[in-house]
Amino acid sequence: MKLMTRMARTFVAGETADEALKQVGRLRGKGILVTLDILGEAVQDRAQSDKAVQDYLDLLDTLAKVKSEAHISLKLTQMGLDIDDEYCFQNMVKIIGRAEKSKRFVRVDMEGSALTQHTLDLFYRLRKKFDNTGIVVQAYLHRSEKDIQDINKIKAKVRLCKGAYKEPKEVAFKKMKDIRANFIKLSEMLFKNGVYPAIATHDTKLLKWAKEYVAANKIGPDKFEFQFLYGIRNKTQQKLAQEGYRVRAYVPFGTHWLPYFMRRLRERKENVFFIVKNFFKR
Ligand code: FDA
Repeated sequence: MKLMTRMARTFVAGETADEALKQVGRLRGKGILVTLDILGEAVQDRAQSDKAVQDYLDLLDTLAKVKSEAHISLKLTQMGLDIDDEYCFQNMVKIIGRAEKSKRFVRVDMEGSALTQHTLDLFYRLRKKFDNTGIVVQAYLHRSEKDIQDINKIKAKVRLCKGAYKEPKEVAFKKMKDIRANFIKLSEMLFKNGVYPAIATHDTKLLKWAKEYVAANKIGPDKFEFQFLYGIRNKTQQKLAQEGYRVRAYVPFGTHWLPYFMRRLRERKENVFFIVKNFFKR
């Protein structure tokens, strides 16, 4: 196996659905829920999007067959957002419609700020047709407070994360202190007026804040979930699950892992040390 592929496996559950489902079984054994993502983004060609749609439909059939509760997550640029709106919409209708048959939830991931409005517009159209879909909001964006107000009005489910793309200061907070403050402000909006928020962070300070906030406001563990990325802070994931919180791991797999892997490396120098250490342990 190539060096990069082996390193990527710290954050990527494999190249095939079978490999990913093995990891799902392992996580479920530890009381951790999952959302599966078939890696792919920035697709410019219909044949590639058609293939991604088919891969998701096959995955949904498999999940229904094995009676898994797993959610799925995907990016609209994998489904043709850069190609044609109507084409992307119809692709999503196929996927969310198939997921609906097994009462399964489909999360639309959020990409770079050039795509935020485009993604939201398409999501709002989909939400009119389906209940089993939700969206992601990034706490580093200045616009997110307004977006959460709008999303709360239609009672759609939000995953709140910091945001993983390199953004200019005109659109995004740059200091960690400001991003955390906004994350807390937006979380409160979701806990007060939203529906079943997903608090997606590995940040010790934000996790501590969320635990204290739900305890102080008597928000039960069935009213929200924590979300983590596969392979990051595994012990913390497990500990939270043991404490009775709902914890969901975002489990990416597939052959198009490079952009995802690079975002994880860029995020934290600890991630680089972590994979190098893991690599030499094998
Ligand atoms: P961050 O990397 O900022 O670290 C802050 C603190 O967390 C550290 O100081 C440390 O205390 C702790 N920490 C973090 N990693 C650690 C480690 N490996 N070991 C020990 N301590 C560690 N982004 C996006 O733009 N669109 C999307 O759709 C999504 N989807 C998504 C789903 C899920 C489930 C998650 C968890 C995240 C995303 N993201 C995302 C990514 C997100 O925007 C963000 O880039 C990463 O989660 C990193 O930010 P954090 O808040 O997790 O911690």
